[in-house]
Amino acid sequence: MKANLSAIKGDITTAKVDAIVNAANPMMLGGGGVDGTIHRAAGRQLFEACEAVEVKEGVRCPIGEARITQAGNLNAKYVIHTVGPRYAIDPEPEFLLNSAYKNSLDLALQHRCKSIAFPAISCGVYGYPIDEAAKISIDVCKQNKYNDIQIYFYLFQDDAFNIWNNLINRSE
Ligand code: APR
Repeated sequence: MKANLSAIKGDITTAKVDAIVNAANPMMLGGGGVDGTIHRAAGRQLFEACEAVEVKEGVRCPIGEARITQAGNLNAKYVIHTVGPRYAIDPEPEFLLNSAYKNSLDLALQHRCKSIAFPAISCGVYGYPIDEAAKISIDVCKQNKYNDIQIYFYLFQDDAFNIWNNLINRSE
């Protein structure tokens, strides 16, 4: 079955999909990078939806896990907030990044999403090497259980776009 993956060069807040994935932090109350852009575009409703997510052991979303909220003003039904690993700090970053993509997709499946947009999770502030992150993300996303979801990778930089795009074309 042909994987339904595509790379797009652009701002993820312009995506018209069922779920937009946010590269969040464990407190899930916004931040810089794509987290800040998503919150600015989504507006206060998103912030309030995040505030309502239960805090357990001091965090709303542990590293590698994902949480789903409404999407405020974004062209999406949901925002799926996931926390990627800090490459040089968190143990087993490959496993945690794999889990972040897997848990995001499983939440999308549970909510009958037909399309999802991912940023390059952990590839900014969290310092994950783009080529390693791209391989991990595509290995998770091309699994058969996700074949019914159209998966878009929204890349902000040319180098990231080229790496994801080449890997997707090679994996088909
Ligand atoms: N659309 C798509 N991608 C974007 C956008 C955007 N509007 N803005 C930034 N990016 C890209 C970055 O260029 C990077 O490749 O998203 C990728 C992830 O970078 P970060 O946003 O820094 O996320 P991450 O590395 O996972 O670090 C998360 O940063 O913003 C804080 O609260 C966040 O603490 C958390 C940490």
